[in-house]
Amino acid sequence: MKVIKVKNYDELSKVAASIIAAQVINNPQSVLGLATGSTPIGAYKNLVCAYNDGLLDFSNVKSINLDEYCGLSGENDQSYRYFMNDNLFNHVNIDKNNTFVPDGTAEDSEAECERYEALCESLGYADLQLLGIGHNGHIGFNEPASAFAAKTHCVKLQESTINANSRLFEKKEDVPTSAFTMGIGTILKAKKILLIGGADKKEIIEKAIYGDVTPEVPASALQLHKDVTVIYVAE
Ligand code: F6R
Repeated sequence: MKVIKVKNYDELSKVAASIIAAQVINNPQSVLGLATGSTPIGAYKNLVCAYNDGLLDFSNVKSINLDEYCGLSGENDQSYRYFMNDNLFNHVNIDKNNTFVPDGTAEDSEAECERYEALCESLGYADLQLLGIGHNGHIGFNEPASAFAAKTHCVKLQESTINANSRLFEKKEDVPTSAFTMGIGTILKAKKILLIGGADKKEIIEKAIYGDVTPEVPASALQLHKDVTVIYVAE
């Protein structure tokens, strides 16, 4: 595991974007595993700048996102599909038909999980998977549990996650209570993993990368992967 400590969010965003950019330059047909949330916004902005400067070409890139709220369509501005369009896809030359997010409106959740896992498998999983982390150690929406989930599944969100995410909704009651997420197994199938966290994630990141490997801290499973880079703000 490669650990890079940075001074602030700006540096975090630049270093993360440069790793993603290098991936796209080295393999223009990369499958990028992407995350939503506040943390990657700065990295996406830097990627958009690099694209505008003519340094990046996303025309042959494909993407698979980690997760999506159940019940929200891509037109809903709180959905993760909307977030990805708004923060990255609308600003670069990626073909939206090559960008994949679980379908939050799927009625048969089991079938949707199977479809999404099969899709990830058919693409050979992510060449580079970007991850944020929750204060409870979640990655994707894999919440602390008694076992690591192998595949894409539907989860009931923990109260702490609903509270954390409610900042982005008008009222807490609007936050969906369940979500589709890649499993820990799906994430670990990525060829490379890039975990990023701001200053408020220092403690949980250090617990995840130096502590016991346990499903109580889902991100600790990253210790089992052979090519992980962690960048976090640590002063
Ligand atoms: C989002 C995701 C989540 C977030 C995590 C941290 O696609 O997978 O695991 O990465 O909740 O969110 P922020 O960055 O908002 O602190």
